[in-house]
Amino acid sequence: MTARDEPRSGEAPWWRDAVIYQIYVRSFADSGTRGVDGVGDLPGITSRLPYLRDLGVDAVWITPFYTSPQHDHGYDVADYRDIDPLFGTLADADTLVATAHDLDLRVIVDLVPNHTSDEHAWFRAALAAGPGSPERARYLFRDGRGPADAPGSEPPNNWQSVFGGPARTRVADGQWYLHLFYTTQPDRDWRNPEVGDMFADVLRFWLDRDVDGFRVDVAHGLYKEASLRDQVLDEDPATSEPKESMVARTLRDEPMWDQPEVHDVYRRWHEVLASYPGERMNVAEAWTQTPASMAKFVRPDEMSQAFNFSWLLADWSAQAFADVVTGTCEALADVGASPTWVLSNHDVIRHTTRYGGGPAGLARARAATLTMLALPGSSYLYQGEELGLEQVDVAPEDRQDPSWLRHRGATGEVGRDGCRVPIPWSGTSAPYGFGPGEGQPWIPQPADWASLTAQAQTGDDGSTLEFYRRALAARRGLPATTAESVRVDVDGDLLTITRAGLRVLLNCGESALPLPPGDVVVASGPVDGELPGWTAVWLTGQ
Ligand code: NOJ
Repeated sequence: MTARDEPRSGEAPWWRDAVIYQIYVRSFADSGTRGVDGVGDLPGITSRLPYLRDLGVDAVWITPFYTSPQHDHGYDVADYRDIDPLFGTLADADTLVATAHDLDLRVIVDLVPNHTSDEHAWFRAALAAGPGSPERARYLFRDGRGPADAPGSEPPNNWQSVFGGPARTRVADGQWYLHLFYTTQPDRDWRNPEVGDMFADVLRFWLDRDVDGFRVDVAHGLYKEASLRDQVLDEDPATSEPKESMVARTLRDEPMWDQPEVHDVYRRWHEVLASYPGERMNVAEAWTQTPASMAKFVRPDEMSQAFNFSWLLADWSAQAFADVVTGTCEALADVGASPTWVLSNHDVIRHTTRYGGGPAGLARARAATLTMLALPGSSYLYQGEELGLEQVDVAPEDRQDPSWLRHRGATGEVGRDGCRVPIPWSGTSAPYGFGPGEGQPWIPQPADWASLTAQAQTGDDGSTLEFYRRALAARRGLPATTAESVRVDVDGDLLTITRAGLRVLLNCGESALPLPPGDVVVASGPVDGELPGWTAVWLTGQ
C-alpha cells in the first residue's frame, strides 16, 4: 500500500476539493516518439507533468486514449483495454500513471460507456450475426417503419443525433442502429446485462493499472426509454435540422436522456470503486435539466461527483452567478455531495471568448476563474485556459470535428475545433514547442501566439499563467469550507461570496467600485485602493 492508498485521516477524500486539469490528449504535447505527426501522445503528457505539478493542480483528467479510428477523436472506442498506437502503448500509460503519482498528481481516465466505435469487435460481430441474434442485442438495432410498398425503408423513430442529422443508420440487411452521436458511434443497449458485466470488467482493468478515477462520458444517456418513442422535434423547414442547439436539445426532456434505470449502473460502479484501496472516484458528464436531477447522480451510493455546467451556461452577471452558486449548493446539500465547477472544456467555446474576447474577455475570464476557485468543492480547468487562450477561428478546410462534418455549417455551428488547437509551450512560431518539427500540428495554430506560450508567460507577473499559479497556491492555503456555510450577496454589479477564511468580491461591471478594507490575498488584475471593472479579489481580515 502506498501513501496515496491510505485514506487521509479525518479529512474528506481528495477529490471533494481538488483542482483537476483536463488534458485533451491530441492537443497537449507531442513527444515525437510516435513519429512527427503533430498529434499529442502519452509520453508527451508524461514529459509535461512537472509543469502541472508546478501549476498547482491536484489531478489530471485525460480524454480517451484507447484504440479508436478517431472519428470523434477517441470518443469512438474500438478497444477499451488498449492504447491507440497514435498515443502510445499500455507501457506508456503505466509510466504516465506512475510518474504522476511520484509527483503527487492523481490520474482520472475517460470512460465512454454509452457507445462504441463501429470498429469495436462487438459491433462487427453484431453486423455479421444478423437480425435477432444475441450479438445484435448488445446494440439498439430495430426494423424500420415505412409505407406498405416499402416497409422498413424509414428509420424506426425520429431521433436526431447530437451532431446533427438522423440518429439512425441502416445496415445492409435492412435493420437500423441507433447512434446518438456520429454514425460511427453505435449506442449500446444497457438493458442487456452483458453490457453492464463487460463494463464492470473495464473499470477493474484500469483500476488494476492504478488509475484514481473515471470521467464518465454521456453518463445521463446509457438508458433510453424502453419504447424508443419519437422525440418532440421542432425543425427548420429550410435545413430539416432542429431549431434548437445541441445543448438545448440535450437539456430538454427527451426519451434518450436521464432515465431512472441509469442509477443502478452507478450503484454497481460505486461497489467496484469501493472494493479498491485508496479513494478512487468517478465524475459524471451528465447534461441534466435541473440541479435537482444532477444531484441524483451523486447520492451517497452512486457517483462521487457530477459536472455542474450551470456557470458555464450562465450569462455574465452578478445575479446569474449568484443564482448558480446558491442553486448548486442547495441542490447538493440534500444528498451531501460536494459541488464541482467548470468554465471551459473541449466541447464548448473557451470562456475568454465567451465573455467577449480581447482584453475585456480575458479580464472577465480571469475574474470568473478566481471566483470559481474560492468556491467549496472541486474545480475543473481545461488545458490552455491558464495561458489565457481564446477560441481559435479554425478555417473550414482545417475543421475536423464530426459535429461540423455532419452538417458543414447548415446549422450555423462551426464545431468544437476552436478550443482544441494544440498548446503553445515555447518559441515564436508553430508548432510553438508542441512537438518536434517545423510544421503545423493537427489543427493549425495562430500566427500570433508567441506571447502566449508557457515559456513567454513564465516569470511575467502580469501574465495569465503566473496569475493561475498564484491563485492555485493561495487556494491551497485556504481552510476547508462546506457548501452550507457559503454566503452569497449581490449588490448591483458586485457579487460577494463569503466562505471560511475569505471574502471574494467579483465586479461584473465595467466601472471601478470601492474596495472594502481587508488584506488582498490574490486578485485577477491590478487592484489599488479600488476594485476595477471585470476584476475579482480575495480578501482576508475585517
Ligand atoms: C461528450 C464528449 O465530451 C464529447 O467530446 C463527445 O463528442 C461526446 N460525448 C460523444 O462521446
